[in-house]
Amino acid sequence: MSEFDVSQLVEDVDLVRARVAEQLAEVDRVVVVMSGKGGVGKSAVAVNLALGLAQLGRRVGLLDADLNGPSVSKMLGLRGQPVRVTGDGLLRAATGPRGILVQSMDFFLQGNQALDWDGPEGEAASVRSALEQAALGDLLGRTDWGELDFLVVDLAPGADRLPALGQWLPRIAAALAVTIPTQVATLAVERSLRRAREAGFPLIGLVENLGTSICAKCGAEGPLFRETLDSEIVQDLGVEVLARIPFDADLAAAADRGRPFLEGEAMESVAGIALAQLVARVDAYQMPGPEGESW
Ligand SMILES: Nc1ncnc2c1ncn2[C@@H]1O[C@H](COP(=O)(O)OP(=O)(O)O)[C@@H](O)[C@H]1O
Ligand SMILES: [Mg+2]
Repeated sequence: MSEFDVSQLVEDVDLVRARVAEQLAEVDRVVVVMSGKGGVGKSAVAVNLALGLAQLGRRVGLLDADLNGPSVSKMLGLRGQPVRVTGDGLLRAATGPRGILVQSMDFFLQGNQALDWDGPEGEAASVRSALEQAALGDLLGRTDWGELDFLVVDLAPGADRLPALGQWLPRIAAALAVTIPTQVATLAVERSLRRAREAGFPLIGLVENLGTSICAKCGAEGPLFRETLDSEIVQDLGVEVLARIPFDADLAAAADRGRPFLEGEAMESVAGIALAQLVARVDAYQMPGPEGESW
């Protein structure tokens, strides 16, 4: 196995980039939701951002790029959808609430099976990242995205994920990072932001999730962690806080039920208002054009 040339598994970057560019030709903007860490609410933010943009009347796609921990299909009530192919041999995205087009590895897995990269002898362990990269390239570049105002990408945790994805993306993309206000999470998000900057990837800003908690009984807002993402830390990170989303049990319940959170009374809640603010900021964000900053 040590003799095996991993690069054989990965298609030429230019080839994948050209295929992705073709499929994204009528996509206006790509917004990548990232974080250094898992479990901080990336998927919840990505899903609510996509739903919120759709609520504004934007045409939205959502790519679940977390191949090993896909949650988008569950959060949008789309689990168990069959994989469909277009006449041109492209993958057809599933249609979620508010017409969102969704693509996820989850559609290719039966039941709640995990992706098994290892094989019976564990022999594929060393090529796992190459296989993952290839699979992600296919989900992105072989899906019929059609005409979209936004393609939101829910990235897997890890600082290297954005540069890996970024090498294929046309210059219509920018990222936002999700964190919770603990030092452990902030360190991880700092690493991700640094890697994103090194790759020259435009950063829209930071989303603080779970800084506070909304009491399910009385609706009062109180702190959740001892730490807060104070202005000094934020200044060191060099990005703006786009929104601060509290813990809201209704938000978690909506995700579990596969239903949109942002509707009815929830629109007036602290979490609803924070999410609407995030949606408005992302909607108003001006992507650096081909002449501007690029990676
Ligand atoms: N602000 C929030 N309020 C309530 N539940 C949340 C909030 N953010 C995330 N969750 C829930 O916490 C769990 C983990 O969030 P998730 O988005 O899956 O994290 P990640 O994608 O970063 O691993 C999910 O069940 C999600 O619905
Ligand atoms: Mg996730």
